[in-house]
Amino acid sequence: MIDVDSRAPDPDVIARAAKILRDGGLVAFPTETVYGLGADALNATAVLKIFEAKGRPAWNPIITHVANTDSARALTTAWSDSAEKLAHAFWPGPLTLVLPKRDVVPDVVTAGLSAVGIRVPSHPVALAIITALNRPIAAPSANRFTELSPTTAWHVQKSLGDRVDMILNGGASDVGIESTVIDLTSDVPVLLRPGVIGREQLARVLGHDVSVAEHDTDVEGEARLSPGRTERHYAPRADTWLFDANDVATVIQATCEYRVRNTNATVAALMLDWSLTVDSAVRAIRMPRDPLAYARRLYATLHELDAEGYSLIAIERPPRSDAWAGVHDRLERATH
Ligand code: TXA
Ligand code: MG
Repeated sequence: MIDVDSRAPDPDVIARAAKILRDGGLVAFPTETVYGLGADALNATAVLKIFEAKGRPAWNPIITHVANTDSARALTTAWSDSAEKLAHAFWPGPLTLVLPKRDVVPDVVTAGLSAVGIRVPSHPVALAIITALNRPIAAPSANRFTELSPTTAWHVQKSLGDRVDMILNGGASDVGIESTVIDLTSDVPVLLRPGVIGREQLARVLGHDVSVAEHDTDVEGEARLSPGRTERHYAPRADTWLFDANDVATVIQATCEYRVRNTNATVAALMLDWSLTVDSAVRAIRMPRDPLAYARRLYATLHELDAEGYSLIAIERPPRSDAWAGVHDRLERATH
């Protein structure tokens, strides 16, 4: 692991990272959303190593990271008006556009699909590496398959360790959950994965509504419409429950019973309503009541509770509004 200044990354360190990528190796690096596990996107052999290191099934496509809109256009056969509008409004930033791919993009990157996910990250370290390599970088979140995404270099170290050639430590990710993914391959844009950029924001920029993909229940092994939506995903090791604030009495009762059933069990609760009181044996954690601040804290909190060996994490369900959609999605998966 190598420390790197997140605002002004040392060019020598960036050059070393780019060299590893050019030689077909893997580099974990910070992005504003979560840490990514990068490989040269145009080198199929290198991209295959990502699947191996993560234990990721071959049907799950990988997002390609580029430094600017021109480089994005070079990867797609159909840069549409919608793509232009969204890129203009949200790049660099936590939005991934799914567009028809050009032949330069190896099939392994898209898991055989004819479309490629593209994003321009805003993190200076990510941008510096892409620029130094002068090629797109394929990068999923830098964690083993189905584990929590990493928001620090330590999370990456713990999950992937020696499976990576280099881990760049640029501090904690600012957004904290993965990018919003929108499919632009058909007439009506489809929101494949919510993030901190919500459906309403997308619709405002596009000038029309966006449809939302149904949860995926496809058979294992088939190429999927939206492959990342495996039900149990982004999950901590602990048991997890989602509860409503007005059910707190039931939750207290249930956690008591849980501790009776499981000797030495330890329980934590993530609370939005700070006035709720839980059992004194439960560690109550006050979560931010702003959705962006909550997203920034979410994985870090779950990682911490996992590291401390908590057996059960009870999580108060956030509001149903669009601003919370990204957080909601991750909580649903974590507690599935
Ligand atoms: O914020 C992020 O998106 C982070 C950082 C590193 O950029 N990356 C990330 O990658 O979360 P990953 O692999 O954990 O999730 C990528 C998801 C896929 O599981 C899938 O849902 C969607 O993005 N995706 C990527 N390419 C796609 C494609 N060609 N068609 C449909 N969905 C795609
Ligand atoms: Mg992931």
